[in-house]
Amino acid sequence: MKKHTITFRLNGEPCTLDVEANELLLDVLRDKVGVKSPKAGCERGDCGSCTILLEGKSVRSCLILAVEVDGQEITTVEGLSRNGLTPLQQAFLNHNSFQCGFCAPGMVLTVTELLEKNPHPSKEEIQEAIAGNLCRCTGYQPIIDAVLELTKK
Ligand code: FES
Ligand code: FES
Repeated sequence: MKKHTITFRLNGEPCTLDVEANELLLDVLRDKVGVKSPKAGCERGDCGSCTILLEGKSVRSCLILAVEVDGQEITTVEGLSRNGLTPLQQAFLNHNSFQCGFCAPGMVLTVTELLEKNPHPSKEEIQEAIAGNLCRCTGYQPIIDAVLELTKK
């Protein structure tokens, strides 16, 4: 199949790759670039474990073709943590918000996006924001507690 050369910024660094027209962004990030934080869960848009930020907006990388991100900016948790844990990540740590951690990168990015738009969300707003990020382990309460503690006025 014909290859396409794409260039995008990944966690602040330029990245140029040859990809096939049908390659998924999730697979390219994990297998070609070596960025492992986006996780392959359902691979059909249902679980949120593959979430990344594309131009600052949370999206599911299992539903995006790699060719679509040509010229765009991608952030994963590797980029968020370049200078150490963010206050949100530290809050999650303080509250033992994750057990197996499979959902954690997607959850962190989804809440990061929420806090950019709404620095003091209510419990209901947090629940609504993370409704598409499935967690099998925690029952969500420690995740919500961490965000509320961090953002309380
Ligand atoms: S792996 Fe993409 S939403 Fe589940
Ligand atoms: S901590 Fe295991 S899926 Fe969320």
